[in-house]
Amino acid sequence: CPRPVPARGAPRFDPTWESLDARPLPAWFDQAKFGIFIHWGVFSVPSFGSEWFWWYWQKEKIQTFVDFMKNNYPPDFKYEDFGPLFTAKFYDANQWADIFQASGAKYVVLTSKHHEGFTLWGSEHSWNWNAVDEGPTRDVVKELEVAIRNRTDLRFGLYYSLFEWFHPLFLDDESSSFQKRQFPVSKMQPELYELVNKYRPEVLWADGDGGAPDCYWNSTGFLAWLYNESPVRDTVVTNDRWGAGSICKHGGYYTCSDRYNPGHLLPHKWENCMTIDKFSWGYRRNAGIRDYLTIEELVKQLVETVSCGGNLLMNIGPTKDGTISPIFEERLRQMGTWLKVNGEAIYETNTWRSQNDTVTPDVWYTSKAKENLVYAMFLKWPTSGQLFLGQPKATLGSTEVKLLGHGQPLKWISLEKNGIMVELPHLTFHQMPCKWGWALALTNVI
Ligand SMILES: *[C@@H]1O[C@H](CO)[C@@H](O)[C@H](O)[C@H]1NC(C)=O
Ligand SMILES: *[C@@H]1O[C@H](CO)[C@@H](O)[C@H](O)[C@H]1NC(C)=O
Ligand SMILES: *[C@@H]1O[C@H](CO)[C@@H](O)[C@H](O)[C@H]1NC(C)=O
Repeated sequence: CPRPVPARGAPRFDPTWESLDARPLPAWFDQAKFGIFIHWGVFSVPSFGSEWFWWYWQKEKIQTFVDFMKNNYPPDFKYEDFGPLFTAKFYDANQWADIFQASGAKYVVLTSKHHEGFTLWGSEHSWNWNAVDEGPTRDVVKELEVAIRNRTDLRFGLYYSLFEWFHPLFLDDESSSFQKRQFPVSKMQPELYELVNKYRPEVLWADGDGGAPDCYWNSTGFLAWLYNESPVRDTVVTNDRWGAGSICKHGGYYTCSDRYNPGHLLPHKWENCMTIDKFSWGYRRNAGIRDYLTIEELVKQLVETVSCGGNLLMNIGPTKDGTISPIFEERLRQMGTWLKVNGEAIYETNTWRSQNDTVTPDVWYTSKAKENLVYAMFLKWPTSGQLFLGQPKATLGSTEVKLLGHGQPLKWISLEKNGIMVELPHLTFHQMPCKWGWALALTNVI
């Protein structure tokens, strides 16, 4: 690719990775820690196997998908025929917003368009393959944007797939080894500008480079506009999926891979995007209870991620009717219950010098330096009632230890250079402030 020439004059950011990568991430994102990802689209109609249904059925011809179609639909049924069946009959964006608020999340990211190309808004560049012309016949994106902004303190974000599996212009560009740029020029770029101008997303979650380099997508040109001129230039955050080779290397925060959870500190802000259904991002009617992560597993993901400097983006897949199934709603509300007690150890925290303890497994640390606070989140309540922490060093007369949601100062013994032993309160099951993980606030430890 030719190197873009930086524009002369006022803009702060040039259309080069060098310039764009140096933009400081707006502070709200690191403070937020927890967001909700929503995978919703025409794939929610078959709701079988995966949101990659179309690809698995017609490109890879995976037997279970081929059989599913053979057994349930007429022989000439096309993927496009699922469009009108995506009715969103019971979609109530206010109800979604209220559930998200109750989850304790601070931002939400909706798939405005997945690899199938169907846009959840009335894109002017997606003729007859968008939610206003077909299916819901409503601007699904607008409704969620209004509900989120009107009823909650969450930031509104959008996911956007750059490429589309079967778009003829993309396929033609691909066969020219991306020398031709018909698809980005006539489809992807106009849509991205339309999305940002119309819905002002504060997270823009790019995905699906289709194997094409960022210069094919003109990602740096777009991002320079986004950061310099767009209506969200001061608050927008983006991820790192802007072209082949850009993941974990360029853009805003890093996602690196799906379900990325490195277990150690990274020098760059990152996000663990994962999904409650272990096997799919879109809704699956053929999911069983074992396929969903338990609330204990989800709390563990959150705690590990935040301790290592990441944000957790936890995914749900609504149904074609626009409902959030009770299993997802329960997990979301459980997270909210847990965060109501332990949010102090999560939101607006920093990492500490240690991420997890060296003596007791499954203890993870965060901190608030200004308040001299270290938080130790532990996922197993010790049967002895004594929690041994190898990392924090306590000082008599100065150190104080409390259990979040309990409040009384706890007894502790300094183990000198070997850490501290905390005597947990004797609580009955019903007195526990929460049941899936706890947090100690340690004041004045080093
Ligand atoms: C915003 O919320 C208020 C109160 O909840 C409601 O009365 C109003 O109609 C809502 N506005 C929109 C545009 O939904
Ligand atoms: C890339 O995007 C920028 C900003 O919109 C635009 O000025 C430039 O002409 C675009 N370049 C190409 C090659 O599409
Ligand atoms: C700390 O976390 C890392 C990464 O998950 C793990 O490999 C290590 O065993 C943990 N240490 C302890 C003491 O649990």
